[in-house]
Amino acid sequence: MKNIAVFASGTGSNFLAIHQAILNNEINTKITLLVSDRSKSKALENAKKMGINCFAFRAKAFESKEAYELQILKELRKNNVELIVLAGYMRIIGKTILEKYPKRIINIHPSLLPSFKGIDAVGQAMEAQVSVTGVTVHYVDEGMDTGEIIAQEELDISNLHKREEIEIEIHKIEHKLYPATIKRVLEDLS
Ligand code: GRF
Repeated sequence: MKNIAVFASGTGSNFLAIHQAILNNEINTKITLLVSDRSKSKALENAKKMGINCFAFRAKAFESKEAYELQILKELRKNNVELIVLAGYMRIIGKTILEKYPKRIINIHPSLLPSFKGIDAVGQAMEAQVSVTGVTVHYVDEGMDTGEIIAQEELDISNLHKREEIEIEIHKIEHKLYPATIKRVLEDLS
């Protein structure tokens, strides 16, 4: 069995969905570490309650990105992590971690990449008045939301006009697509 780390700095609804899929024996893995770039978050609170090891940090407390990423690497090694799952982590992964985890970092993004990269993908889709958006799971490279695509699912938003409605539907897709994709990626690793 290969251990995973989840990097989540916000609500952590994807983190919970992954955790639940593991409890349901849908994925053969263990979350041995949660990393958060905020000292307080719902994701962190829940991980602590579950007894998952946590590493929460403030980037400002370190002298450089390399310095905090070296600290994260230590935590990843200590917890025997083989796959990094980004789920609402608010920082770009730098060279320090990327070089040690080649093709072993994945991210979920609320758009059909390559459309609407970066922050507020739902807002960008609304602004562009597209009728279809969706969710992408991709490998992480040095760019922002540019790595190789692993899975995508479309969402018809032509009848959804409020941001909250779209976000609810996006999350529903994410909570199924991410666990299913993590399962596939882990199987490919073994
Ligand atoms: C998700 O919409 C994901 O696509 C994006 O960040 C959000 C995290 O949501 N990368 P949550 O914290 O898992 O609820």
